[in-house]
Amino acid sequence: MTIKQIKVGFDNYSYIIFCQETKKAALVDPGYDASKLIDYIKSNNLNLTYIIATHYHSDHTGEIKKVKNLFLSSKIIASKFINSNYNIDKLISDKEQLKLGNITLEFLLTPGHTPDGMCIIVDNKAIITGDTLFIGDCGRVDLPGGSLEEMYKTLNEKIKPLPDHFIVYPGHDYGHKPFDTLGNLRPSLISLIEGIRKTL
Ligand SMILES: [Fe+2]
Repeated sequence: MTIKQIKVGFDNYSYIIFCQETKKAALVDPGYDASKLIDYIKSNNLNLTYIIATHYHSDHTGEIKKVKNLFLSSKIIASKFINSNYNIDKLISDKEQLKLGNITLEFLLTPGHTPDGMCIIVDNKAIITGDTLFIGDCGRVDLPGGSLEEMYKTLNEKIKPLPDHFIVYPGHDYGHKPFDTLGNLRPSLISLIEGIRKTL
C-alpha cells in the first residue's frame, strides 16, 4: 500500500492511494493542478478506480470533472450528505468499506467543517482527514454548513478513539509537518476537544 501526498494549489494536499500488486488507485481531493495528479497516475501505470471527495468545497473537488473525463471508468465517491451537482457514482455511509485491490478503505463520516465531511482510513494504518483534522488544529466551522457541536462530536467520538499508530494525512499544509502520527498529535487533539467543550 502506498499513499502519495501531493501539494496542489497554494496549500492543499491531494492524495493518491494505490495497491502495489494490482495498480488499482484512488485519487483523493483533486482540487487543483489536475495535470500534476494525472502525470503521477500515468507515469506509475496506475488504474484509477476511485475519485474521492473528503467534502464538497471547491479546493478539494475543483478538478474532479477533468480527471473523470480522462479516466471514464473511475467512480466518484462522496459522503451521502454531499450537497452538490457532481454526478456522484457512490454515496458513502458511516463505517462503509471499499476494496482497492488488496487495500481496505474504511470511511468515517465526520461532519463539523461541512455536513459532508468524510475521513478515509487506509488499511488500518493511516487516515486521510480532509478539513476535519490538520496537524495541530481542526477545520474551521464558520463557513456555511459548519457546526462547532458536530466538530466536537467528530473529534471526541470518531477521531480520539483511533489508535496512536495511525498516520494523519491532512487536507492542507497548515502545520509544522506535512503529516504525523495520531499519537504525536494526541496532546493537541485533546486540548482542541477541551477548548471546544468549554465554549459549547
Ligand atoms: Fe474545506
